[in-house]
Amino acid sequence: TTHKIAVIPGDGIGPEVVNEAVKVLELLKKLDPSFEIEFETFDWSSEYYLRHGKMMPEDALDTLKKYDAILFGAIGDKRVPDDVTIWELIMPIRKNFKQYINLRPVKLLKGVPCRYMDENIDFVIVRENAEGEYSNSGGRLYPGMEQEIAVQNTIITRTGTKKVARFAFEYAKRQGKRTVTSATKSNAIIHSMKLWDEAVNEVGKDFPAIHLQSYYIDALAAYFVLRPGDFEVVVASNLFGDILSDLGSAVVGGLGLSPSANLNPEGDFPSMFEPVHGSAPDIAGKGIANPIAQIWSAALMLEHLGREDLAAVILDAIEQVLVQKEVRTPDLGGSSTTSEMGSSIRAAIQQL
Ligand code: NAI
Ligand code: MG
Repeated sequence: TTHKIAVIPGDGIGPEVVNEAVKVLELLKKLDPSFEIEFETFDWSSEYYLRHGKMMPEDALDTLKKYDAILFGAIGDKRVPDDVTIWELIMPIRKNFKQYINLRPVKLLKGVPCRYMDENIDFVIVRENAEGEYSNSGGRLYPGMEQEIAVQNTIITRTGTKKVARFAFEYAKRQGKRTVTSATKSNAIIHSMKLWDEAVNEVGKDFPAIHLQSYYIDALAAYFVLRPGDFEVVVASNLFGDILSDLGSAVVGGLGLSPSANLNPEGDFPSMFEPVHGSAPDIAGKGIANPIAQIWSAALMLEHLGREDLAAVILDAIEQVLVQKEVRTPDLGGSSTTSEMGSSIRAAIQQL
């Protein structure tokens, strides 16, 4: 069957890096007759907003629903407020398509200059993506006054937490991993985080072969830096997962190398694949953005579509190019362009 992909390049470096990722997928289609894929590109972006007064058309979600997956670049433009771009485009997609898992691999690729070269860093962060600390429940009392108070509620549900935990354990099982690490803070946050712990423990009982360890988030942040090689699957609430993801990304080489997946595990709706980075206005238009995060995000998409084999080919090719050290974008200390990096990765795929 043909995989139908909706492509949303977005703003800034988004279109520059998405272009390279699509070319990689097109090459794989050419090389492997069993791999059929079709793209439809949507120009929903800040540019679109400036012309139409909205980030995407009214029926955008109905349109997207018909695709097997969404490949997303990045959005953000100085001419449109960031909360508009995010809340009118990314959030409606994540929420309506029940993409309640945010999956971020933290893997030290071969050939990446990094202080942890001797460690085998290869784990994933499974972040709760729909509830938790990022709720709009709460408010402010006595605005502007000395005695002003703000209350921001965290919503942790047993069902929501069990679903993320189950995803984490099942992922661990599928990948042959032995440990799931839960990020908590139930010593200080005694209502929501205790429920988190209970729900995660309850799910853990269904996976006797997998060891569950819980760490307080502050200690866990330190362990990410001190012994990042120790983790396999880390499961965390929305806020904790957000912070750990950026920390994880920094530990293994930075934003240019960090992919992510927003997953609807049930497959009722399309999942969305995007680099962790934004539209990088400081380098946009210069053709020097690192396309690896985007290309790797496309590899995560292939994994989700059941083509782990092709995802592995992409990762091997990326590592080959990094190991050769000849072609590197400025974020990795080189002077190559986005398209040179993309072409070398495609050349490496053809050699494999
Ligand atoms: P950013 O990720 O766009 O950039 C941070 C720094 O990393 C910049 O110096 C940039 O040049 C560098 N960088 C990012 N990606 C790179 C790549 N592929 N290759 C080389 N260098 C790279 O984050 P920032 O500056 O905080 O936000 C810029 C805009 O992006 C804002 O409008 C923000 O709202 C938006 N944004 C959008 C996201 C999304 O679409 N999911 C996520 C994060 C930010
Ligand atoms: Mg973040």
